[in-house]
Amino acid sequence: MNIPFSKISLTGNESHYIDQVLKSGWLTTSSKALKFEQLFAEFVGAKFACAVNSCTAALHLAVDAIGIRPGDKVMVPTLTFTASAEVIRYMGADPVLLDVEYGTGLVSPAILKRAIKENPTVKALILVHYAGQSAEMMIPEGEGILDLCRNHNLNLIEDAAHAFPTKFGNQFVGTFGDITCFSFYANKTITTGEGGMFVTNNEAYYKRAKIMRLHGINHDIWDRFTSLNSSWQYDVIEPGFKYNMADLNAAIGIAQFERAGYFRDERQRCAQFYYKNLGQLSNIDLPVCYGPLENHSWHIFPIIIRPEAPISRNRFIEMMTNEGIGVSVHYKPIHRMTYYRLAYNLNPCNYPNAELIWQGTVSLPIYPDLTEAELEFICQTVKSLVSNKAYKTLPIEKVPDESTGS
Ligand SMILES: Cc1ncc(COP(=O)(O)O)c(C=O)c1O
Repeated sequence: MNIPFSKISLTGNESHYIDQVLKSGWLTTSSKALKFEQLFAEFVGAKFACAVNSCTAALHLAVDAIGIRPGDKVMVPTLTFTASAEVIRYMGADPVLLDVEYGTGLVSPAILKRAIKENPTVKALILVHYAGQSAEMMIPEGEGILDLCRNHNLNLIEDAAHAFPTKFGNQFVGTFGDITCFSFYANKTITTGEGGMFVTNNEAYYKRAKIMRLHGINHDIWDRFTSLNSSWQYDVIEPGFKYNMADLNAAIGIAQFERAGYFRDERQRCAQFYYKNLGQLSNIDLPVCYGPLENHSWHIFPIIIRPEAPISRNRFIEMMTNEGIGVSVHYKPIHRMTYYRLAYNLNPCNYPNAELIWQGTVSLPIYPDLTEAELEFICQTVKSLVSNKAYKTLPIEKVPDESTGS
C-alpha cells in the first residue's frame, strides 16, 4: 500500500479557470481574486474578505488591524502551528500560551476564563479552531469564548486555518470574532497552493488590511499596467507588506471553493469510518467531536496513543510508515519550541493537557480520495499495532524531551 498523509483533489474547474487567467494576459491580483473574495465572504456570511498569499499573512494583517503594539500581551493556544504565535512577535508583542482541552484540542471557555483572571492586562486572543472543529463560542446560560472576550474587552482573532467550512450552531466560522483568518495551503480543506483569506464585518479593519496587503499604497492600483485610463499616481501611507493573492492562485481557489461541500462530506465519511472501526480500542483516544459531525470540516483526524498502549507514538509512526501509510503530528506545542521556550522560560508542567496530547498524538490520513479499502487497511494496521502484545516485550522508548534536550 502507498497511502499518502495528504492528497488534494484537483478534478474540478481548476485548469479551466487557470486557462482563463493565462489567456487574460494578467497573472497577478485582478478579477479572479476579487471574485474569490466575494464568493467567500458571501458563503461565510461576512461583509468583507481580503485575499492574501497565506493565512500567516492574514493573521499578521489581523494583529496589525486591531492595533497590537510592542509589549502587548496576546493569548494563543500552545497546541497550534507556529504561525499563530509568530505574528504576535512580528508586532513586538508577547504571546501568553494557553493549555487546551484533552479531547478536543480546543481552548475551552473554562481555560480562557482562568487565563483572563491570571493575565488581566492581555489585549487579544488568537483562537485556533483545532482540526476543523469550532471552539465553543457560546454556551447556554454561561460564558462562551465570545462572551468572555466581549465581557473582558478582548479583541478576538480566529485562526481558522483548519476550519473551512466549519459551523458553530447554525453560523459558519468567519463572523464570530473581530477578524477570521483562513488558510489555503496545499494540504488544507480547500487550496490555492499558497493562500489565505482575511474576513471581517468591520469596515475599518478591512480597509486597513487592504492597504497593508499591498505595500501601504493608498488605493487599488491593480490596473496601472494594463488599463489606459488608470492613474499612474499613488501614494504610500504606511510601510505595508506584499501579501496580495495572485489571480493564478485565486483561479484554483474558486474551483476548489465550488467543491468545498463535497470535500467536507467526503472527509466526514473518513472520520465516520475511523470512529466505527477504531472506537472500541482502549489503547487509543479518538478526537472528541462535541457538536454535530456536519459542523466539523475534518481537516485532520488526530488520535492519541495512550501511555498504557504497548507501543509508543514514535514507534507507531515508524511502523505506519513501514506499512506505507503516511501520518503526521499536530502539534509539537509552541511551549516546546526552542525559540519560545528560551525567550519566555516556559515550563511544560504549565500545559498538562497539551503535554498529554503531544506525547501520544498522531494524525491519520483524511481526504476525499481515500477509498474504503485504504481506510480498512489503515484501521487494520492501527488495530494490530496498538493491540499487538509482541510490542509489550519491547522496551517502550521514551519520547525525547525537547524542553531539556534529553
Ligand atoms: C493553525 C494554523 N494556523 C496558521 C497556519 C498558517 O497557514 P499558512 O501556511 O497558509 O500561512 C497553519 C498552517 O498549517 C495552521 O495550521
